[in-house]
Amino acid sequence: MALSLFNFLIIAGLHLFPFIEAATVTKDFNITWAYGNPDGAFNRSVIGINNQWPIPKIEVNKGDRVVINVFNGLGNVSTALHFHGIFLRGQTEMDGAAGVTQCSIPPGSSFTYNFTVDQPGTYWYHSHVKAQYPEGLRGPFIVHDPDMPFKDQYDEEIVLPLSDWYHQMVSTTLMSRFISFANPTGAEPVPDAALMNDTQNLQIHVQPGKTYMFRIINMAAFAAQYFWIEGHTMRVVEVDGVYTEPAEASMLYLTAAQRYSVLVTAKNETGANFAIQGSMDQDLFDAVPDGLNPNVTGWLVYDGAKELPKAQPLDAFEPFDDFGLVPQDGEKLLDKADYTVTLDLKMDNLGDGANYAFFNDITYVVPKVPTIYTALTTGDLATNPAVYGVNTNAFILKKDDIVDIVVNNNDPGKHPFHLHGHNFQVVSRSADEAGPFVANASIEAAFPSVPMRRDTILVRPNGNFVLRFRADNPGIWLFHCHIEWHTASGLIATMIESPLELQSSLTIPEDHYAACRAAKQPFKGNAAGNEKDFLDLKGANVSPKPLPAGFTARGIVALVFSIISAFLGMAAIAWYGAQPLGKGTEMAARGIVAEAGEGVGEGEVTGTRPVGKLE
Ligand code: C2O
Repeated sequence: MALSLFNFLIIAGLHLFPFIEAATVTKDFNITWAYGNPDGAFNRSVIGINNQWPIPKIEVNKGDRVVINVFNGLGNVSTALHFHGIFLRGQTEMDGAAGVTQCSIPPGSSFTYNFTVDQPGTYWYHSHVKAQYPEGLRGPFIVHDPDMPFKDQYDEEIVLPLSDWYHQMVSTTLMSRFISFANPTGAEPVPDAALMNDTQNLQIHVQPGKTYMFRIINMAAFAAQYFWIEGHTMRVVEVDGVYTEPAEASMLYLTAAQRYSVLVTAKNETGANFAIQGSMDQDLFDAVPDGLNPNVTGWLVYDGAKELPKAQPLDAFEPFDDFGLVPQDGEKLLDKADYTVTLDLKMDNLGDGANYAFFNDITYVVPKVPTIYTALTTGDLATNPAVYGVNTNAFILKKDDIVDIVVNNNDPGKHPFHLHGHNFQVVSRSADEAGPFVANASIEAAFPSVPMRRDTILVRPNGNFVLRFRADNPGIWLFHCHIEWHTASGLIATMIESPLELQSSLTIPEDHYAACRAAKQPFKGNAAGNEKDFLDLKGANVSPKPLPAGFTARGIVALVFSIISAFLGMAAIAWYGAQPLGKGTEMAARGIVAEAGEGVGEGEVTGTRPVGKLE
């Protein structure tokens, strides 16, 4: 008998118990300038990979090792890549946060990210150098899972990134206008367009009766988007990498950096096509420029010969509330916190007249020495937050402590917060205008018994939230607003988790130090690079001094108006001087669904991997 019983059993066994061997997925990424015109309205320089833009999707299986060999081919700017939502357990040095877990990679240098991925779901990767990802250096990072609990309930999956888009350079032109004495109210530049799959007018061809899993990712710099599919309901099965008990939603709200996987079952007939609509949340915009189209439209195409209908106007946005989602693993509310980090958020001016963002009256300034290297080289003093500098909002977390992060938003804006290295239970989230969180027995009794877990969460205007997690991942993890304008203006805290354990467990690869040497950046000592007296922070990077007493934002506006108009004439400041002071009120009156622009990049006929075709 050629096929022995033994062989037969092996084959049958493999078939019955397929085991997926962990693979190594290797990518060579030359980060380069390229061109992109995703809204068909403006061709601009973008940051691409291997001369291509949009940048590639990274797709791996749970358990895989990922090796990304980066070469910075940009020529003029430094870079770094962050893998948003990936825990990097025991591998914090691969987190990609420039100035925090590594030196940024200078032009002409190489740097390898090498880590294992032990969690399934929908993530993304992006530059973590100030204001750089909105230039296009952001893309999906998908972790497939052979044990996906809903895998029998869908036929195909479709990765669907959303984004906002700017025509001008964000990291240079717009950023220097944003953080400026000429913009004392801190009005954020408003995006020029919304994108779906890095294009507009995307067509997704579907087959009657099939069920699709859409992995929706908001890769925006700024704008949250409402998202819905006309004539179809969605079943949410994943948020930010956490499987959930299926929950019906007719509209989602995705802040910058949030992700949802939803199951959508196609209709049984092919009589019509249906609009897929994304709409930027204009509450975020201080003033809505004339002619802005906040919407991006695509279609579920059942029959390519039939018309592609315009999206229907809506009376109001009524998005699904994520707070009630229940993780499918049933993880219970963690015990009462051992340690609470309370962060009071405000926006205010400093002595240079520009507007900054603050936690507890401190605006983040990146330290001279990346925080990870300070933790590794300051001995026992690594548990003293002072060595990390006054402008880093450093908090020391003890191994396995239950930690609460309370954010009190003393600002009329909405802010999406993200914690690196963890996801968190969302144990409390207030409505608008609730004021600061005040702990009491009845509020605590109302915490959900199985709270929603995710890695990015919205705090509402003048509201608060409480997040809870176990400090079981030694590392240096940022907690920040994921509106890139606010990250740049300082809305960042640094969680220093088990620093002494890092000293004994971490080995930093040589190419990480080589990047520091090439960048002429110190990598030893306290935040100021002092290797002898760790408590002497002389020479550290610090924020501008406070405003002299009595100065207000309005005062600065008046001053700027008079100085500039005297010297340059009014025209020079028309672009920003005319911005109103208050957070947007007038946009409520605007039509919700405007017409999609014409002549934009055409979506392609697609199967499981829709790729917008760019001209
Ligand atoms: Cu999407 Cu600090 O990260």
